[in-house]
Amino acid sequence: MSLLDPFFTPFECKTLKLANRFLMAPMSRYFAPGGVLTQESVDYYRRRIEGGVGGVITEAVAIDRPGSVAADTVPSFYGEEALAAWDRARIDVQGAGGAIIPQLWHVGGCTDFNFPDSPHPPLESPSGLVGPGIEGGRVMTAQDVDEVIASFVRGALDAQRLGFDAIELHGAHGYLFDQFFWDVTNKREDSYGGSDIASRVRFAAETVAAIRAAAGPDFTIIFRVSQWKTYMYEAKIATTPAELEQWLAPLADAGVDIFHCSERRFWEAAFPDEDDRNLAGWTKRIIGKPTITVGSVGLDRDLMQDFVEGQSVPTLKSLDELARRFDRGDFDLVALGRVLLADPNWLTKVRSGATDQLKPYSRECMDTLY
Ligand SMILES: Cc1cc2nc3c(=O)[nH]c(=O)nc-3n(C[C@H](O)[C@H](O)[C@H](O)COP(=O)(O)O)c2cc1C
Repeated sequence: MSLLDPFFTPFECKTLKLANRFLMAPMSRYFAPGGVLTQESVDYYRRRIEGGVGGVITEAVAIDRPGSVAADTVPSFYGEEALAAWDRARIDVQGAGGAIIPQLWHVGGCTDFNFPDSPHPPLESPSGLVGPGIEGGRVMTAQDVDEVIASFVRGALDAQRLGFDAIELHGAHGYLFDQFFWDVTNKREDSYGGSDIASRVRFAAETVAAIRAAAGPDFTIIFRVSQWKTYMYEAKIATTPAELEQWLAPLADAGVDIFHCSERRFWEAAFPDEDDRNLAGWTKRIIGKPTITVGSVGLDRDLMQDFVEGQSVPTLKSLDELARRFDRGDFDLVALGRVLLADPNWLTKVRSGATDQLKPYSRECMDTLY
């Protein structure tokens, strides 16, 4: 009997059907020259399914809009050649018994923090800001907003047409949707900005509604959110559960099926004055939709500390806590990040007790597509 057994039950939400509750977390790898995924990446994704996870959320992919990403090795999710490569990944992953979910990305005004010198088209953002007093991108016009929404719809429809299991919209970590959510980066005076969250969420809600209208009621839409932003870890969109509801309820009403709540450490309380629930726990409680939790599962340090200090030690002590929260109904799914970068067979090894064979995560894992 393994601590993880309760997670080995199927999950179903519309088109998304998973054999168990584990997903690979979206992780940018920058191995797609000219925006086209290679066979090495296809094999890398398939190996994670063979290693036991129910599905993969892909690295963030560029939507069909100049400046949607700021590095030229991020895979595109448009154009015949790039989509054909993604379709090979889909066929292999599904053939291995897993689900595959592209994460559609628009960086807004952010240059790429891994490749800040990479050439890229001009960037765009809600108010020309990416942080407090930090400039990034030109201010989007109403026409830009409409065009970006249309680009997200094209990406979602391509995913649906090709037979992907769901899509995830990257609404976290300080990128375009998050730049609209955050009052520090959204100073707009039109209907997409304002002092209340309800108006700042409008751009994302309209995007979701447009995808829902085009894709129909059954295609699964996942939306990833976070309070934190890259290099701005204390930032918060919602400081209370009531604000969380104002933020996420319009997205649920627009058609989001599952919320992916990105945190650096899943065991931390989202609102410490209330109780010990994390963001996924509070979202499930307030919004009532399925949620995905993530953040340092099986590791002792969060990802940003790792980028600086280099190596995380596998630790299984957090798994008791994960199981306790799952049993309480806080979330439905768990995304695994760095442990799967380091070791595609992490899940199978942990479940079978072969923990002495786990490969530790180190920064060097970033250099290969093993
Ligand atoms: C190399 C790397 C690349 C990442 N790229 C993305 C990304 O493209 N999209 C995204 O939403 N999160 C990205 N993340 C964050 C992960 O999805 C995940 O939330 C984070 O690593 C925490 O999970 P972990 O502690 O299990 O690694 C990335 C993380 C890593 C380590």
